[in-house]
Amino acid sequence: MCTSTPVNLANTATAAKPQQWNLHLPEIDPERIVLSTSPRDAMISDVNEMSTLINEFASARIMLARGPLYLYQSIQDYMVITGKIDGQEVVVACGGLHVLWEDLAEIRSVAVHPALQNRGLGGLLIAALTKNAKRIGVNRLFVFTLAPGFFQSLKFEEIDRESIPPVVWAECSKCPKFYKCDETGMIQNI
Ligand SMILES: CC(C)(COP(=O)(O)OP(=O)(O)OC[C@H]1O[C@@H](n2cnc3c(N)ncnc32)[C@H](O)[C@@H]1OP(=O)(O)O)[C@@H](O)C(=O)NCCC(=O)NCCS
Repeated sequence: MCTSTPVNLANTATAAKPQQWNLHLPEIDPERIVLSTSPRDAMISDVNEMSTLINEFASARIMLARGPLYLYQSIQDYMVITGKIDGQEVVVACGGLHVLWEDLAEIRSVAVHPALQNRGLGGLLIAALTKNAKRIGVNRLFVFTLAPGFFQSLKFEEIDRESIPPVVWAECSKCPKFYKCDETGMIQNI
């Protein structure tokens, strides 16, 4: 007999109602924001803002879209950088590390608010995700990206499509761009 506490599906459904999602990227005045000094692990309460940030770039076709279901289920992969505006915390950058195999993890959804780009936040996120990868024993990082210059500056190297590890293709088969991929595959031994 099942004795576990029933899950309140009504609450779950209410929480996921699309109209409760703020889908507009807030304007940020770089002069008024006090940035945190280092990335931190993402929390459930960050998902709304992470999704907004990622999907702002996805709508310009420079990143893959990530919906709330994916972000909730992958929250432990993600880190964020926040800042405070008038005492209120806002997510200004995010990125994920998804383990694919014993020696390989993929960097996913790295996004920095447009008002705060080119100030080192993207580099800080990659450094923190790399540290996590080393801590858990992964020794190679992979990324598919439309910003190869950014990853090149962080010592990633472009990889031929033929040399891309098979486990990456298994992931690619879930991607809407599978038959017409315009992204560059890059890899780094860490
Ligand atoms: C790409 C992105 C994450 C970079 O973040 P950022 O905070 O602006 O980058 P940083 O300031 O940490 O830059 C680190 C280095 O990369 C370089 N760089 C940054 N963006 C670059 C780009 N698009 N092309 C080439 N080099 C770039 C910087 O000049 C810097 O080099 P330096 O250390 O020699 O000065 C950010 O521009 C962004 O969110 N872009 C839109 C979304 C996107 O394309 N994400 C990547 C998808 S996987």
